Amino acid sequence: MITLTVNGTQHQVDLEPDTPLLWALRDAVGLTGTKFGCGIAQCGACTVHIGGQAMRSCSVPIGVLNGASITTIEGLSPDGKHPVQQAWLAEDVPQCGYCQSGQIMATAAFLKQNPNPTDADIDANITNICRCGTYERLRRAIHRAADLMKA
Ligand code: FES
Ligand code: FES
Repeated sequence: MITLTVNGTQHQVDLEPDTPLLWALRDAVGLTGTKFGCGIAQCGACTVHIGGQAMRSCSVPIGVLNGASITTIEGLSPDGKHPVQQAWLAEDVPQCGYCQSGQIMATAAFLKQNPNPTDADIDANITNICRCGTYERLRRAIHRAADLMKA
């Protein structure tokens, strides 16, 4: 048994230590907001926060996570009103939506480190892939979220 602390709640999961966190979150904990895209840390669809840092959960084995605080899209805010979520709604970012929880989680962690990013900072740091090509709206929403977080 491995104990995972997800969105403030402890879960005992009966899985091998090398099981990727993404699998544990979706199949054992039952939180399906975090998505599978590539499985090899390339696309960012599976991004969650571990100890406040954005991490690609498809490539983090649960055996290293005892005691770690994990936050998923379901736990980003109690009411869906995190500034990044508000900015996403205002800019109408999603198309199919599949990549968006990962985009939001990556952005929320990024803006804590860089509250005033340039377009170049965004391009260098938010490397999540969107097959629908929502990149222009993503960038506008990231700037809007940065403004909301400063307000
Ligand atoms: S599914 Fe994890 S980075 Fe693509
Ligand atoms: S909104 Fe469809 S993959 Fe990004």
